[in-house]
Amino acid sequence: MAKILINKHDKFLVKDLNNDFHTKHGYFKKQDLKKTSSKIKSNTKKEFTVFDPYFIDLYRKIKRDAQIIPLKDIGLIVSETGINKNSKVVDAGSGSGALCCFLANIVKEVITYEIREDFIKIVKKNIDFLKLKNIKIKNKNVYDGISEKNIDLIVLDVPEPWKAINAAKKALKIGGFLVSYSPTIPQTQDFINKVNINKNFVHVKTSEIIEREWEVDGRKVRPRSQAIGHSGFISFVRRI
Ligand SMILES: C[S@@+](CC[C@H](N)C(=O)[O-])C[C@H]1O[C@@H](n2cnc3c(N)ncnc32)[C@H](O)[C@@H]1O
Repeated sequence: MAKILINKHDKFLVKDLNNDFHTKHGYFKKQDLKKTSSKIKSNTKKEFTVFDPYFIDLYRKIKRDAQIIPLKDIGLIVSETGINKNSKVVDAGSGSGALCCFLANIVKEVITYEIREDFIKIVKKNIDFLKLKNIKIKNKNVYDGISEKNIDLIVLDVPEPWKAINAAKKALKIGGFLVSYSPTIPQTQDFINKVNINKNFVHVKTSEIIEREWEVDGRKVRPRSQAIGHSGFISFVRRI
């Protein structure tokens, strides 16, 4: 069990509750860290609220190696496909496991395909850290086929997504979603052009999400100078 410590100026994830926790605001006694939904004070009298972490508090601390799909883009995938606790999802490639872990917190089951064993080790660490029980990792090339059937959603975050279209056809339910996430337009173009000549799929839309966070402090209200830049183009396709 971990804890979140938060006040208006700072936020910490405390992973070890068996020792005092030292910060630039002083240290917090281990017996105080075991409290929950309470106000506690450091030895220098700085007050923080302590509570049990939500999934998102832990998710923000997962290990990252491959470029992960940012939350703004995961939000669109979840909302456009309407996946829920009954959904079965395939994800490829796993990378750091960011997308598969986020989806596993929402859906019934996630099967994630990854060709690199070094990335699989990171994914396993992240799954353990988040205590997820509904992810199956496959050390397989998604272009060679997807053995699962009756899948509601397949998300491809691989360099040549068009090579997985036939595999997706066999695995998806009729009406199910194939989502391709690509950082570049040539990848997106090649994928959608292949979809458009395939009678088993229909292209619904391709979008890019641009998030602009704002600073709000008294009358100083303006966009934060460092916006999140380009991440990826998200294409939504349905199995027909
Ligand atoms: C950009 S990362 C995916 C990041 C992941 N979506 C996340 O949110 O953490 C792309 C991954 O796809 C893997 N990959 C590339 N081609 C693949 C293939 N044909 N089958 C399975 N995995 C593949 C790479 O090794 C890499 O780890």
